[in-house]
Amino acid sequence: MGFVVGLAYNLKKDCPRSEMVVEDADAEFEEQATVDRIAKALRAAGHRVVRMPYGPGLLSRLQRDQVDIVFNIAEGWDGRCREAIVPAILESMGIPYTGSDPLTLAVCLDKAVTKAIVSSYGIPTPRAIKVESTGDLPEHIGMGFPLFAKPAYEGSSKGVRSSSKVNDREELVAMVDWITGTYRQPAIVEEFLPGREFTVGTLGNREVETFPIMEVRPSADLEPDSFVYCYNTKHNNLERFLCPAPIPDDLAARIRDVAVRAFRVLECRDLARVDVRLDAAGNPHFLEINPLPGLSTVSLFPIAAMAGGVSFEDLVLRILDTAVARVNLVACAAAQEAMTRRSRSALARS
Ligand SMILES: Nc1ncnc2c1ncn2[C@@H]1O[C@H](COP(=O)(O)OP(=O)(O)OP(=O)(O)O)[C@@H](O)[C@H]1O
Ligand SMILES: [Mg+2]
Repeated sequence: MGFVVGLAYNLKKDCPRSEMVVEDADAEFEEQATVDRIAKALRAAGHRVVRMPYGPGLLSRLQRDQVDIVFNIAEGWDGRCREAIVPAILESMGIPYTGSDPLTLAVCLDKAVTKAIVSSYGIPTPRAIKVESTGDLPEHIGMGFPLFAKPAYEGSSKGVRSSSKVNDREELVAMVDWITGTYRQPAIVEEFLPGREFTVGTLGNREVETFPIMEVRPSADLEPDSFVYCYNTKHNNLERFLCPAPIPDDLAARIRDVAVRAFRVLECRDLARVDVRLDAAGNPHFLEINPLPGLSTVSLFPIAAMAGGVSFEDLVLRILDTAVARVNLVACAAAQEAMTRRSRSALARS
């Protein structure tokens, strides 16, 4: 069944200049090519696509163009609730959309809140504290060095550098000072996980499917305990991906279990990507979750899907179909059509 699909997104080129204070400021936003590829995949399956760039015109476009559903990849520009804004607008207008609801999107962008929820369900995650400034750092942190410091409300490796792994108090203070000053938000200081790193793509709702587990490794001869998958690594192509990860079945099952449980307890919908890293003893820990995972050609979610035999085009349709089934859109559209037919024939009779 062909739908009218709104496509909501934030383009890098539209990023407000006021946000551009640091080199990775626009890292989470889309290239035009990604939006074009998604639109093309939707059109090829018989859907009509209405482009809806994030911004002041979005509301009037939604009022003017009647869409059946929105394919949402809009990140919003600023603040820890930025990813929740488009879904909140769509909810207020009763328009279905792909992906998680505003509460889940806002919660998952705040790493401290996410970790509090995840750990309350017994999912292992490194201990952490959230600090507004260096002045909030307690004299005794209660966790041994090395620690890891990162912005509390970012993604796409924003504010994460090789120097995020801090070995002493002096390095910690410098990092927290840089994060809070540059990104204008609190920092998370957490236990450093020295083991191998994995990411897991998830798709579904009642039934949650996982794509093959991807291992993210340094390309150079680096031990996992000195590897940080961050802005510097990405920009200098210092990482390599192994998908499926070369790991024994029992470890794979434990990593998948962390990912799917996190997806469920955070009440994610349709899709997400979960980062997992091993501690010194080889036990998997939840690092963070991305309920709006990137869909560019270099994004890990579509690469993992591909390793599972799902092409980019199929992935886009699977995301849409998952949302369509969740909101029962086909049944709703049929009921709406039947109602219109009934009222037309009643009018004709009168
Ligand atoms: N506690 C930790 N111990 C070890 N490494 C960590 C820790 N936290 C983060 N890292 C490293 O930093 C990277 C980025 O951290 P994180 O995934 O939290 O940031 P992000 O910007 O939300 O990521 P994404 O690019 O997936 O959106 C991780 O992939 C990992 O390599
Ligand atoms: Mg991550």
